[in-house]
Amino acid sequence: MKALITSGGRGTRLRPLTHTQNKHLIPIANKPILFYALETVAAAGIKEVGIVTNQEGTEVQEAIGDGSDWGLSVTYIPQEAPLGLAHVVKISKDFIQDEPFVFYLGDNMVVGGIKKFIRAFEKANSNCHLTLAKVKDPERFGVPEIKGNRIVRIEEKPAVPKSEYAVAGIYIYDSSIFEAVENIKPSARGELEISDAHQYLLEHGYTVTYSEITGWWKDTGKPIDLLEANRLVLENMKGKADGFVDHRSHVAGNVVIEKGAKIVNSHIRGPAIIGRRTVIENSFVGPFTSIHDDCVVRNSEVEFSIVMSKCQIIDVGIRIEGSILGHDVQVIHAEGMPRTHRFMIGDQSIVEIA
Ligand code: DAU
Repeated sequence: MKALITSGGRGTRLRPLTHTQNKHLIPIANKPILFYALETVAAAGIKEVGIVTNQEGTEVQEAIGDGSDWGLSVTYIPQEAPLGLAHVVKISKDFIQDEPFVFYLGDNMVVGGIKKFIRAFEKANSNCHLTLAKVKDPERFGVPEIKGNRIVRIEEKPAVPKSEYAVAGIYIYDSSIFEAVENIKPSARGELEISDAHQYLLEHGYTVTYSEITGWWKDTGKPIDLLEANRLVLENMKGKADGFVDHRSHVAGNVVIEKGAKIVNSHIRGPAIIGRRTVIENSFVGPFTSIHDDCVVRNSEVEFSIVMSKCQIIDVGIRIEGSILGHDVQVIHAEGMPRTHRFMIGDQSIVEIA
């Protein structure tokens, strides 16, 4: 069994973060989203992985290298443009050849692994095994129509969903998927849709089976999904203190304090992670917060947030909450008169002021 992982696409829903970085490298609990996908396929015993990348940019290659850090052998497959997930499968035929494979969307995160889905695929002698998760907003996803315990139809982002399930971005195929992706046409939005390939398999007598994901699963497509994924990963993380905590500070709950971090006269309430060489001084860091490497938080409060590397949050008079700060961002108190807000903000940023 091989694995095919996506790392391309446009990332439009995560702008401005994705103006300067590939969305799959956004850190969740201080680790790129894509690394979780690699860990998951490696834990399932898979060794050969194809990663589909955008034609331009080499950040993914630089971050992952040959995959040996995960015990994997990684082959990069450039996609000329984001022409759809079925297009991703189509261009990967030479890499996959005739083997069954896991198709794993690199912006999806799942807890509990994928071994059981591979077993279910093998046991059912399936051509295509889907994973389904119950969601509140199925219209954002591929949606199955289920009769009895069989999938009878699949639609991509339907206005009126036929079930409360999303087809999650973890699929297991045999080589019949290549016949499907050759025979479908681009959708109204100009993409070769993976849901249309699944519908093709259903209509042509192939065996399409499914498992329900009962633990947590997240498609990190929108900013709130990043915060939620961050919360869930932190909740499952074990605390450790490799950094320095002074005697006036108070650390409660599961908190990871990385090497070289310094906590001075501050309250850290877990679950939280404080990155390498980051300094937290006279501050409060609340639950579900990840602060990456080389940051400074001074005389400020941060909660339920993702703060990427080299940020400075200094003398901010009101608690920062539900926020995502990109790399090298400064949120600082402005001195002097008149008392004004002063901004230097890149394209498509969002600022909410109380
Ligand atoms: O997350 C599950 C959903 O993923 C499914 O329910 C949908 O049926 C499926 O179409 C997909 O929908 P999204 O709108 O979330 O797909 P998105 O465009 O975000 O792309 C998913 C991943 O694939 C992401 O890692 C980016 C990458 N990608 C996407 C396209 C369209 C590529 O590498 N190349 C592409 O051409």
